[in-house]
Amino acid sequence: MKGIMLLPLFCHVVSPVKHSLKIFATTSSGVKNFPDYVGVGLVDEVQWGYCDSISKTVEAKQDWSQKMFEDDPQYLEWCTQQCVLDQYDHKAHIDILKQQLNQTEGVHIFQMMNSCEWDDETGEVNGFVQFGYDGEDFIAFDLKTLTWIAPKPQAVITKHKWDRDRAHNERWNYFLTQQFPEFLKKYLDLGKSSLLRTELPSVSLLQKTPSSPVSCHATGFYPYRAMMFWRKDGEELHEDVEHGEILPNHDGSFQMSVDLNLSSVKPEDWRRYECVFHLSGAKNDIITKLDKKVIRTNWGKTGILTLQCLFNCIGMPFMHCECFVLVPVSPSEFPAGPVIGGVVGLLLLLAVCITGVFIWRRRDNGFRPANSSDPSSFEISEVRDAALN
Ligand SMILES: *[C@@H]1O[C@H](CO)[C@@H](O)[C@H](O)[C@H]1NC(C)=O
Ligand SMILES: *[C@@H]1O[C@H](CO)[C@@H](O)[C@H](O)[C@H]1NC(C)=O
Repeated sequence: MKGIMLLPLFCHVVSPVKHSLKIFATTSSGVKNFPDYVGVGLVDEVQWGYCDSISKTVEAKQDWSQKMFEDDPQYLEWCTQQCVLDQYDHKAHIDILKQQLNQTEGVHIFQMMNSCEWDDETGEVNGFVQFGYDGEDFIAFDLKTLTWIAPKPQAVITKHKWDRDRAHNERWNYFLTQQFPEFLKKYLDLGKSSLLRTELPSVSLLQKTPSSPVSCHATGFYPYRAMMFWRKDGEELHEDVEHGEILPNHDGSFQMSVDLNLSSVKPEDWRRYECVFHLSGAKNDIITKLDKKVIRTNWGKTGILTLQCLFNCIGMPFMHCECFVLVPVSPSEFPAGPVIGGVVGLLLLLAVCITGVFIWRRRDNGFRPANSSDPSSFEISEVRDAALN
């Protein structure tokens, strides 16, 4: 199942100025106690709709999408229809592929990602549709030639079959270049008070141990179209820098971090470095000078793990959880006696917390389409229902 998380073609580099609409659908066969079909819709990486083969209705996930469906029940019904049609369509794909590939049993996963991007400055639109099978790229549509690209030999039969249906490919073209971008603009308009807001993050410098890289961590920003980097003497650094992914917070905002390895930098040179956070649509960047005094670390401190901190960990990316910054204890300063009991108890709690996070994340990743953010699919099958014919 692990491979299912890795769909290289599905991971576009997030461009910082474009709006996006994405629909992800995951169809599985042979997975017990899990819906055969899960579709998720995202605008600018924010989930607005959900549908699965058990509920069979599209559920709004944002206030604006709730209102959109309430105001336009026909649209809700149409989306729901697409969700149901998609399920049949994708299940048929799995059956055909199993036959073609001589697979009689086991778990199989078929994934789809439709997306479009709209650059609100240049007006440029771009669309993608890709399918994955058992965790690997299977087939993708090329808008330039209006034909399908098969990266693997096992998709060649499908490619030829789909390429013969020109009308179907024309519909994909229309869908990806016209209809889908219109949906995107419509959603951005309906949800503008939340989707087009800007929220600046709080930025801090974190370091686990005196020899660890310094992590510049921004949390609480919106939208996800943001950049963060380190610079030295005003110039962006590329070496000794590790960029983390942009990750969603529970409250709808985002976080990210960029680590800088300072092991070969002399202490007197530290002041030449600064971390820059840039949010699309915001006037000013947040600049944080590298200064030992402002680095938050808990190296050498003990006994301050609180339950609140542990709760904050749940669902947070491993490296960014405050608790993990709190954990390192320099051996020489480790307190003896009764404190140890308390610390051990808290560490046990932490272990439970970590295990919880792992279980949660595994479940999460195991069945979701590739991306770290979540995905979806309703609107589409009309374009695709001929795919099997
Ligand atoms: C399909 O699998 C069966 C049983 O493993 C095997 O006998 C047969 O040759 C396979 N057919 C193809 C086309 O690979
Ligand atoms: C930091 O850089 C040094 C050498 O430049 C290297 O030995 C060390 O492994 C790096 N640390 C990390 C965490 O990447």
